[in-house]
Amino acid sequence: MLLFCIIKLFFLGISESLAEDKDGCLICHRYPGLVQIDSSTRFQPLHIDEEKFMQSPHGQGGCRQCHQAVVKVPHTGASQVDCFKECHQEDKEDIQAETNAMKYIHKFEQSYIEQINDASVCGVCHKLYPHSRNNLVRAFINMHTGFLHCEVCHLKRDKFNQLIYDWSEKENTVFHGRPFGTFFNPKSHQGDVATNSISRIDVFSMEKGRKQPVRNPQDLEKAKIFLSVEKQLSKSDRKQKLDEFHKNTGRKEISMACNECHSGKSILDYHQLGFNKEKAGYLKNINIKGLVTKYEVFYFPHLFGN
Ligand code: HEC
Ligand code: HEC
Ligand code: HEC
Ligand code: HEC
Ligand code: HEC
Repeated sequence: MLLFCIIKLFFLGISESLAEDKDGCLICHRYPGLVQIDSSTRFQPLHIDEEKFMQSPHGQGGCRQCHQAVVKVPHTGASQVDCFKECHQEDKEDIQAETNAMKYIHKFEQSYIEQINDASVCGVCHKLYPHSRNNLVRAFINMHTGFLHCEVCHLKRDKFNQLIYDWSEKENTVFHGRPFGTFFNPKSHQGDVATNSISRIDVFSMEKGRKQPVRNPQDLEKAKIFLSVEKQLSKSDRKQKLDEFHKNTGRKEISMACNECHSGKSILDYHQLGFNKEKAGYLKNINIKGLVTKYEVFYFPHLFGN
């Protein structure tokens, strides 16, 4: 009986993670909030919902029936899709006439961050998806802004005595579609998945045994004023003001940035935050960080020779 259970578990595990995602693409593309920046104002969601994809007309054949050129990360040739090589030879003209068919193929399978409603000064000047430089990790970092306040990663921590990480009271991230994150305002209605807004982890400093915000609320107004007069400022004035807004802001090397939370030495106390033991262990040992820190280029091993 025990053996039966073990075998069953083994196959269950495989059918959940591998059988449907036989090309391995959903290891990364299953995360709502994963996006790519197209231009300064436009972004392209990269999330694909496995269940919805499976139910779509193209769900049975896997990703590579269309995305044949994707064999490594970062990808090259990812936008090369040929609908007619092996399929659709008979209705080729109908499909070509439907100019938007290609553009909207994954539309109903994608979720992404639509809005962040907080009093954060960072959002006054920075875009909803602020990370664009490093194409290996930018999509992953942007995804984290849905469940972490900017300062959780960017605070110059040595400037503060004692920091603690806790949920913000409000659900202030609004997703289009399904949100990504474990908690939906745990303080008031834990686990309410009916809403598409979630709360985020924030950082506080402990002063005399009390939680204090690390943000200066007056900065919000100052930042709005800065934007309205920015064009008239001299170069050095502008720089001085920007330095002031960033006086507690630091920037990390990628290799360190992921380990700060996804390792045994995590700055976050997952247990105290309410993550169960399995999830905490998973987050500490998550191997996705290997993909972005260990390899400059990661080839999909099982794609060679087939
Ligand atoms: C290790 C993580 C990872 C895996 C595995 C992965 N991707 Fe991606 N993919 C990304 C990231 C990150 C981006 C966005 C890169 C950027 O920001 O420029 C991306 C972007 C894309 C894009 C949009 C790119 C464009 O230029 O339009 C497509 C299409 C895509 N992936 C398809 C796939 C397919 C198909 C597979 C499986 C064969 C796959 N990906 C596997 C991480 C991954
Ligand atoms: C029936 C063909 C087909 C299948 C199957 C397919 N895709 Fe796509 N995919 C497309 C087309 C067409 C585009 C749009 C390309 C363009 O805009 O030029 C696209 C675009 C994308 C993009 C870029 C974002 C977007 O919405 O344009 C990602 C990421 C992506 N696909 C991932 C996947 C993953 C992961 C799978 C498997 C779970 C998959 N695709 C299966 C045809 C397909
Ligand atoms: C008043 C507008 C403004 C505010 C407020 C602001 N930023 Fe910035 N930030 C900028 C601009 C503009 C740049 C580009 C720097 C330049 O032009 O020299 C920048 C650059 C950055 C950089 C990149 C630094 C580097 O080394 O390349 C980071 C990280 C950053 N900001 C994070 C933040 C965070 C986190 C907050 C909130 C605590 C914040 N910013 C608040 C305008 C702002
Ligand atoms: C999960 C941690 C994390 C969170 C949360 C986060 N950042 Fe970052 N951010 C980084 C890392 C790591 C880099 C450095 C990327 C690199 O070196 O390529 C970075 C770089 C930046 C940059 C430099 C530009 C760029 O494209 O790399 C800006 C601006 C920035 N962050 C702003 C923000 C703002 C605004 C927020 C909140 C909305 C935020 N970040 C939230 C980790 C984070
Ligand atoms: C400040 C802490 C922090 C940093 C830094 C950080 N993460 Fe995370 N990450 C989290 C938390 C917390 C979650 C879980 C969110 C949830 O489920 O509510 C998470 C979730 C993830 C997930 C999804 C896990 C799942 O549930 O399947 C991936 C993938 C991930 N992180 C990758 C990265 C990468 C890559 C980096 C470095 C660029 C990084 N993280 C940096 C805190 C962090």
